[in-house]
Amino acid sequence: MAINTAHLIYFSPTGTTRRTLEAIVTGIAPTQIHHHNLTHNSANSPLQISSGIAIIGVPVYAGRVPADCLHRIANFKSDNVPTIIVALYGNREFEDALVELRDVATTQGFSVIAAGAFIGEHSYSTPENPIAAGRPNADDLKLALTFGQQVAKKLKNRDFNTPEIEGNVPYKERVKFGGLAPETNEENCTLCGKCAEVCPVEVITVSDSVKTDAAHCIMCCSCIKNCGFNARAFNHPVIQERTELLVNNCAVPKTPKIFI
Ligand SMILES: Cc1cc2nc3c(=O)[nH]c(=O)nc-3n(C[C@H](O)[C@H](O)[C@H](O)COP(=O)(O)O)c2cc1C
Repeated sequence: MAINTAHLIYFSPTGTTRRTLEAIVTGIAPTQIHHHNLTHNSANSPLQISSGIAIIGVPVYAGRVPADCLHRIANFKSDNVPTIIVALYGNREFEDALVELRDVATTQGFSVIAAGAFIGEHSYSTPENPIAAGRPNADDLKLALTFGQQVAKKLKNRDFNTPEIEGNVPYKERVKFGGLAPETNEENCTLCGKCAEVCPVEVITVSDSVKTDAAHCIMCCSCIKNCGFNARAFNHPVIQERTELLVNNCAVPKTPKIFI
């Protein structure tokens, strides 16, 4: 079965999910690739995916699919298009995110034929406190490409089975975010507005100062990683403590897991 079109559907505030999906699709080598980037598109219009292959990717937040992804993916429908699902995690654990993504995708009519848990630099990673820094690295991307080739072969053999996927149902309890947000160091800030532009949930406003609505921040760290002036940081002691725990407990690099 030749694959003409691949639909990449992803939420990726710090870019690791997107990069991994791009490596997977290289292994599939379709003639056309459509990007459905849901990161900055909270009100995406309903879309039906009816041909080709879909690759749906999300980051793992507290062992689950981020709530905002669920709403955005719910705008897509499919009629059994073969689908790869991908959970990107920061070298701690992916827990129930992949089975949750399988269930969401299946409810929307996608036919899950393969799944992967890949590793990306943790959103909280900083040069001083690195957690999976630089991942996905060259080895991760090579594995992602090989995974794409394996899925292409599975499709060629007309094998549409859904594999067993690691994770529990019922899923672990969802952790509610909100209340903590990165802060702006006014000495470094040029009021360029990049942080507001890249925020997936539009909680940052820039006028003569930068204001962040912490109650609705999802802590994705896109504003920190995209600031060209090193003006955004998570200084809150709760995040500092969490980051140090992750640095100490998640230092051993994990290997991507695939289910096919
Ligand atoms: C609020 C929040 C919760 C997270 N929870 C987890 C987790 O449970 N396990 C893990 O390994 N990584 C966790 N991470 C790290 C992200 O999964 C990881 O950085 C991922 O690569 C981000 O994807 P992106 O680059 O596409 O935004 C979390 C990150 C954030 C911001």
